[in-house]
Parts: sequence; C-alpha cells; structure tokens
Amino acid sequence: MKIIEDAVNCIKSQVRKLSASTGIITGSGWDLSTLPENVTEIHYQDIPGFPTPTVGGHKGSLIHGYHNETEIILLQGRVHYYEGYSMDEVTFPVKVLQALGVKQVVITNAAGGIRSDFKPGDFMVVTDHINMMGVNPLRGKGNTLDKRFVDMTEAYDRQLAGIALNTGEKVSIMLHRGILAAVTGPSYETPAEIRMLKTLGADAVCMSTIPEVIVCRYLGMKVLAVSMITNHAAGIGTSAMRHEDVVHMAESRSKDASRLISAVIDNMPR
Ligand code: HPA
Repeated sequence: MKIIEDAVNCIKSQVRKLSASTGIITGSGWDLSTLPENVTEIHYQDIPGFPTPTVGGHKGSLIHGYHNETEIILLQGRVHYYEGYSMDEVTFPVKVLQALGVKQVVITNAAGGIRSDFKPGDFMVVTDHINMMGVNPLRGKGNTLDKRFVDMTEAYDRQLAGIALNTGEKVSIMLHRGILAAVTGPSYETPAEIRMLKTLGADAVCMSTIPEVIVCRYLGMKVLAVSMITNHAAGIGTSAMRHEDVVHMAESRSKDASRLISAVIDNMPR
C-alpha cells in the first residue's frame, strides 16, 4: 500500500542501513527508551500515516538503535481502538515494521489481573488470547496477501515465550504464563464482566495488543507478548479503577520491565 511505502521511505531516509529483525511495541507506562543506543528517534507525527497517541503514558516515537548486538526498532507508545482509531490505524505501525523487514515483535501492555494469584506489579508471558473486542483487524476486502483465514493455533511463538520464561528466571523476575483477553474499553470492566472473562479462561485483561498480534501473524511475524499486571481487575480487588494508578504502577515497575526486556532481547535469535 502506498501509505505504508511512504512511511517506510520516510523512516529509511532517516536511518541509514536499516536491517533490524526485531521490533518492540510498548504499552501504557512501559518506558523502554533507555534500551537502544546510537538512536535515531522519529516522532510518529513526522511519519506519513502513523497514528499519534492521545492518552497519558504513551510517548509516540519510533526509536531505531542497537541493544548490545541486536539492532532494534522500538515503537514507544501505541494507539488504541478506544481512542477512535480504526483497526487499520491501530495496526498500521505493525504493517510498517513488517515492511521494514522485522521478523519478530515483542509486544508489551498493561493488564488487569484476573487470576487470584496475580498481584499488581507482576509480569505475565502471554501464551494465548481471547479476543473480546468484537472486531477483527483482518476484516475487509483489501487484504493484500492471499490468505484470509489466518492460523492462530500458535499465535504466541512458543520458542520466544520459552526464552522469555528462562530469561525471567536468570534475572530473578518472576513471570507468570497466562491467557490474555482484550476488550475495547475505554470504560473498565464491571465485576460481572470480569467473572465472565474468568469463566472463559482469561487470566488478565487489556484494551490493546490482540489486534496487533493478529496482524503480526497475518504478515508472518513471530510474537512474544508480555503483560504487566498493573491492577487487580474489577471486583478482584477492593479499589475503584483509575488510569493514573495503572500508569503509576507501570512506571514504578519500569526498571524491572527494562531489565527483563533487555535480557530477553539479548537471548532472542537475531
Ligand atoms: N482492564 C482493562 N485494561 C486494562 C486494565 C484493566 O483492568 N488494566 C490495565 N489495562
């Protein structure tokens, strides 16, 4: 698509000899901007077609650089369906990553913990998902590749998840494994909705990630997804839900988040 080409040309004109095979997308409050060195930073608003975040906790820039031996493209901040963006817009950055040559993507988010042993501040490697958004980013006539019915039996790459879990042990950061549900938001769930999600088998709930994962799989990119449990889901804890608390918790865990993703990147295939 022309607009993806325009974005790719814009990025390539600013980053010479770009050949990163690893991409990272950060969620609410996750700040991984200290990870890459020798960086070129391009604000989303300066890239043709790139949607710009409107919520707190999302910075909105593409950062190219090197983490030790690994060349990475970090998308610091994302946009959400609840902001009013279309699914095409929400997944545009993922399409640009693929067009830049990225083969594997680390996707992070903030999520509410549904499982009773999940505490705010914990991390979870996503092993599977339940899409409760009521929409699918692949819907439409314009799919450019000749595959509409994308296999999702191993949406989350088992090898990458294994690497993340082993790495967590090595750096002494406990990682749960679990199933992620996504809803559109922006209102938080009711306690009854959380009981429903629990019954369906979800361990954590977020308002992002799943559309990006579906498009990654459509485009043949491998996915590792890591959630930070920023709060007890509605009705699991006693307090009311507030976005500021989610962002604060994510920020207060950002050192461990960086340490974890840094070690994971070092252990991933290049
Ligand atoms: N629900 C949905 N999305 C979220 C939550 C939650 O409790 N916490 C962080 N993102």
